[in-house]
Amino acid sequence: MLTERHTSAAVEDYLERILELINTKGYARVVDIAQSLKISQASVTNMIQRLDAEGLLKYEKYRGLALTTAGEALALNITRRHQLLTDFLKLLGLDEEVIYHDVEGMEHHISPPTLRAIEALTQQLQRQPALLAKVRKQTDEN
Ligand code: FE2
Repeated sequence: MLTERHTSAAVEDYLERILELINTKGYARVVDIAQSLKISQASVTNMIQRLDAEGLLKYEKYRGLALTTAGEALALNITRRHQLLTDFLKLLGLDEEVIYHDVEGMEHHISPPTLRAIEALTQQLQRQPALLAKVRKQTDEN
C-alpha cells in the first residue's frame, strides 16, 4: 500500500508541483514541470510514467496529465503541510527565501502529530500578539 509514510520526497515534490500548475494554469505539461523543478524533460517523463504506473496520475501524450483521486489526495496533503509550515515561520518573521527553502525540506519529514502541534502553536501565537512580539524580538537578537 502506498501510504504517506512511504511516499518519497521526490514523489511529493512532483505531486505538489503538478497540483500547483493545474491550479494556476489549468494544466501541467512535462515542459512546465521540468522548468519548475529545474530538471530535464527526460527525467520528468520517467517520473510521470512511474507515477502513472503507481496510480497517482493519468498521462496521455497529447491530452496531458491529470491526477487520480489518490494522487490528488497526496498532493493536497503535501500542499497543506507546506502551507501550515509557511504560515508558522512567517508568523515568526523569518526571511521569505529562508522560509521557502526550509519548508521544502521540512514538509517531507514532519509527522502528523508534530504538524498538529505546530498548527496549534500558530493559532495560539496569532491570538497573543504580545507573546508573539517577544518571540520575534528574541529571534532578531540571536
Ligand atoms: Fe513544498
